[in-house]
Amino acid sequence: MSDRLELIHRVISDIVGAINIARVYPKGHLEVLRVQNRLYDSLISALDTHEEINFIFLNQMVYFEKLPVIGNKGVIQAFYTIFYGRGIERLTFLKGLQKYELENFFEEAYADKSSGIKSKDHIKIGRIIPQQDLGMSVTKKQWATQTMASVYSNARKNEELQVMDVNRVAIELIKTFNKMSDPFKYLVDIKTEDEYTYIHMVNVALLTMKLASKIGFSGQILVDIVFAALMHDIGKVMIPEEILKKPGSLDDIEMEIMRTHPVLGAKYLLLHRNLPQITIVAALEHHIKYNGEGYPQLQPGWQPHIISQMISVCDVYDALRSNRPYHAAMFGEEINKRLNMESGSSFNPMLVKNLIQLLSVSED
Ligand SMILES: [Fe+2]
Ligand SMILES: [Fe+2]
Repeated sequence: MSDRLELIHRVISDIVGAINIARVYPKGHLEVLRVQNRLYDSLISALDTHEEINFIFLNQMVYFEKLPVIGNKGVIQAFYTIFYGRGIERLTFLKGLQKYELENFFEEAYADKSSGIKSKDHIKIGRIIPQQDLGMSVTKKQWATQTMASVYSNARKNEELQVMDVNRVAIELIKTFNKMSDPFKYLVDIKTEDEYTYIHMVNVALLTMKLASKIGFSGQILVDIVFAALMHDIGKVMIPEEILKKPGSLDDIEMEIMRTHPVLGAKYLLLHRNLPQITIVAALEHHIKYNGEGYPQLQPGWQPHIISQMISVCDVYDALRSNRPYHAAMFGEEINKRLNMESGSSFNPMLVKNLIQLLSVSED
């Protein structure tokens, strides 16, 4: 986390802390003053290099500099409720902030919900002008990628999977992108091998979401499908970095190791409760082909679940369109040709047909 972002997290927790403390201690109590003073110092340092600190409260989320703030959910939720609950959607602290303004602001904030908080010279509150575009789609995609980066790096550190965060990403992706005819313009190109896996997870989730809704999935099952797509490659957290990031083709042994990621992923997911069961199935099966070939080898004649089949075709689509150490990025027709060639063997023909239809709409 950058220093500035860390400072902003401190500002948020001090605002929440100051309000909670003032509900317990009388006005002017030393503890109240202590937290207020600390908050004032944090705000002044944050305003040292910037003209303003701007928070937006919208859709159950707090945005800072147009990006959703993620971190301590309890504190962020409390921060959201304090202001949004009073009809405030925007809170801005401006350079030049005076201590007495902050004190007045808190006095109003401590009071009942009925009495309002008013803007000051250097503290502005208000509603968001409807036309003010937050660039919501871009922002949501960035936020999703950022959240998945943190989920991925925590899993790499052998920590527990942040199930709630993945679920939130799944829901937000559906809310933001499912109605768009061409959300594919939000597929992100990778710049470094470091970011490949989690960017790929979000891209595959976006593609799978559209494919699944095109063939009729909706509601909770759609959320579960997107969740499963986000997690399909989670087993890669257990693959050594030298193999994951190797610039060039893998040798036989490295390939064998790489091919353990579906089983490793399924085993890791099995350790967690509260996740859709299909997630485990899809992590295990996403490299098994429609005709039962591929890996891992299960019982003869094994046919992957339809959801694994969807993730599989979207997985290959995103891999082909990305620049990888072992192949250059392919484009439109070239990818379609490849998918059609393997339709009926690697992929379910009905899914190939629907995916190509979806993508041709987006290219118009
Ligand atoms: Fe995979
Ligand atoms: Fe993948």
